[in-house]
Amino acid sequence: MLIVTPKLKYINGQLYLEEVEVKKIIEKFSTPIYVYSKNQIIENFKEYKEAFGDRSHLICYAMKANSNCEILRIIKELSGGVDVTTGGELFRALKAGISPKKIVYAGVGKTKEELLYAIENKILLLNIESADETKLLNYLANTKKTKLNIAIRINPEVNTHTLSYISTGEEGTKFGIPISEAVDFVKYIIKNCKNLKLVGLHFHIGSQICTLQPFIEATKKVCNLVRKINLLGIRLKYLDIGGGLGIRYKNENPPTAKQLIKNLLKYIPKDLTVICEPGRYIVGNAGILVSKVLYHKSLKNKNFLIVDASMTDLIRPSFYGAYHNIIPVKLSDYERLPKKYYDIVGPVCETSDFLGKKRKLPDIPNNEYLVVETAGAYGFVMSSNYNSRLRPAEVMVDKDKFYLIRKAENYEDLIRKECKI
Ligand SMILES: Cc1ncc(COP(=O)(O)O)c(C=O)c1O
Repeated sequence: MLIVTPKLKYINGQLYLEEVEVKKIIEKFSTPIYVYSKNQIIENFKEYKEAFGDRSHLICYAMKANSNCEILRIIKELSGGVDVTTGGELFRALKAGISPKKIVYAGVGKTKEELLYAIENKILLLNIESADETKLLNYLANTKKTKLNIAIRINPEVNTHTLSYISTGEEGTKFGIPISEAVDFVKYIIKNCKNLKLVGLHFHIGSQICTLQPFIEATKKVCNLVRKINLLGIRLKYLDIGGGLGIRYKNENPPTAKQLIKNLLKYIPKDLTVICEPGRYIVGNAGILVSKVLYHKSLKNKNFLIVDASMTDLIRPSFYGAYHNIIPVKLSDYERLPKKYYDIVGPVCETSDFLGKKRKLPDIPNNEYLVVETAGAYGFVMSSNYNSRLRPAEVMVDKDKFYLIRKAENYEDLIRKECKI
């Protein structure tokens, strides 16, 4: 049976994450529930760190992948920074104790309030994405009587061969300044934006990219641009190469962080500090979503397992058609029992509410449990209250211990923000 999560294993027919029996977590906190392996997060982060060797660098974890403050605290302990994309993420990062000097902020639609929040907290870099944003930022910096360090997010226009919804560096996406317009854009900043200091370039070409080639192509193109900008008399300090490295959900074979970074460093001038923004790679394979089988239902040529997790907990299958491997918590007799194809579906009133389709599984009885693997990234953070569903709890496992890092919601939470008329 395929298991893709490195820290998951069966011992005497029971599933363990690190040294904790998953059943014990269910008994304490019920389902559906997200569970993360602390030591997998640490290993993933260290892999990036070690790949840089003695090259000047900063790893800014892309917290959009999973923004629980406990995960941010782990990143902080490892001397990491974060990449934020909203004022809300900046708030979380500061609350978790991440130094503003290790925060970079990209996003096509930063509001005036968000820009001011970032300026007031003196974050390392604002990565600007349009001429309008640049004008507003220059104006705000002027009112604050400050000169701001900025980077330009470049769209290097490369083909990423990933899902179209998570490809950001191809021609025609809303992200960044098209590379063909970048030199003119820099000239515009030099001439008109006296309160902005261009210190870096940034690119992020997409997510779940499983080959080196698009990263190499983008890096070469942007490093060529660095040289052109040098000729305009500007010495850049930072090159932010974004995130986007793919992980294994099924049978993908993406490069490792070490392979990626070692290859890209060859093209990057040595005087630049390299910032990278991995998200999925840090937390994706550290997390699982555990769910209870509620009912079985069979049609003429289809079998459903109806479970207590749904698209409101993990939207990736219905949103992107993404694949997550699904395995039972109790393995006993797995190999011996006859298997059938099941669609694993949730309780939400949408036909698109599924976690997996046509999965070959033994008959897992009602009230037994399933694990949806590789759910640590873009899982809980994309959860919703649609159908007034309650967002699940999150738990961290550390060797033989586990602890709650977010409580499950209750019915009162659903109406807490509503106003009486
Ligand atoms: C600007 C930026 N940086 C980093 C990331 C992280 O990407 P990933 O989780 O694929 O590493 C994203 C994700 O979309 C992003 O938009």
